[in-house]
Amino acid sequence: LDGYRKSCIHVSAVSLKKTPVHMKGKSAAEQRWLLRQISDPFVKAAHAQNYRCRSAFKLIEIDDKYRLLKPGLSVIDCGAAPGAWSQVAVQRDMNNIPLFIPGVDLPKGSVIGIDILHITPLDGAQLLSNHDITEPSTHMVLERLLPEARADVILSDMAPNASGLRELDHERLVTMCLSVLDLADKVLRPGGSLICKYWDGALARKLQQRLSSMFQNVRTVKPRASRKESAELFLIHNYKGEVVA
Ligand SMILES: C[S@@+](CC[C@H](N)C(=O)[O-])C[C@H]1O[C@@H](n2cnc3c(N)ncnc32)[C@H](O)[C@@H]1O
Ligand SMILES: *[C@@H]1O[C@H](CO)[C@@H](O)[C@H](O)[C@H]1NC(C)=O
Repeated sequence: LDGYRKSCIHVSAVSLKKTPVHMKGKSAAEQRWLLRQISDPFVKAAHAQNYRCRSAFKLIEIDDKYRLLKPGLSVIDCGAAPGAWSQVAVQRDMNNIPLFIPGVDLPKGSVIGIDILHITPLDGAQLLSNHDITEPSTHMVLERLLPEARADVILSDMAPNASGLRELDHERLVTMCLSVLDLADKVLRPGGSLICKYWDGALARKLQQRLSSMFQNVRTVKPRASRKESAELFLIHNYKGEVVA
């Protein structure tokens, strides 16, 4: 608890065993946060399934419905730390099912996770720690790392540190989303898709206009695993603008 409300709650931050949690010396806000963590079914499930963060279930829920992650695709995960979305992407993308057909090479996907923070290494993913998605130099690094400089899926669960000012946080997140769209313009394959978190607010229309000019089938969803009181929504797009038959 670094003084601001963490947008991604690290599963290991709370012991889920039956031992009593020490509330003494903790502020009322910290106590509320701990109690909510302990009773949150998604935190429990993340712990049981070894996901680094409960947010894994947001991507699982979206992808179970829209089926965007498939073996062999190349995926960029923006704002990847601590790495739960990348874990899900690797599972769905890399065909690591113990299935072996002699003489047949199953397609192997590629997952690149990036974050301004450090990301703990993860089997099957390439991780770019300490990289800011709003920097054009980061886009160049990504283009070099991607197979054929192209991505099939771009994920963004990025969030700014909460300032406490709703409109300011909204503006910052929209700026980050626009950087993701710049990246999509450079590397996303026609027919590729995008899942992008945003917070509703004054600039949401501007964001949606830019999206509609680039993508078809723009949808807004709120997964069950996204807390009710949270303003976050996810935009999902299939980039069908320039599909060559
Ligand atoms: C909600 S967390 C992501 C959780 C992640 N999807 C998971 O499942 O583990 C948001 C992340 O966005 C990152 N972030 C914020 N601004 C960024 C930027 N400009 N470039 C890259 N990452 C950024 C934060 O450091 C933070 O780790
Ligand atoms: C959030 O705060 C942490 C710790 O102060 C910092 O390292 C990180 O870069 C900040 N994230 C953003 C998106 O500004």
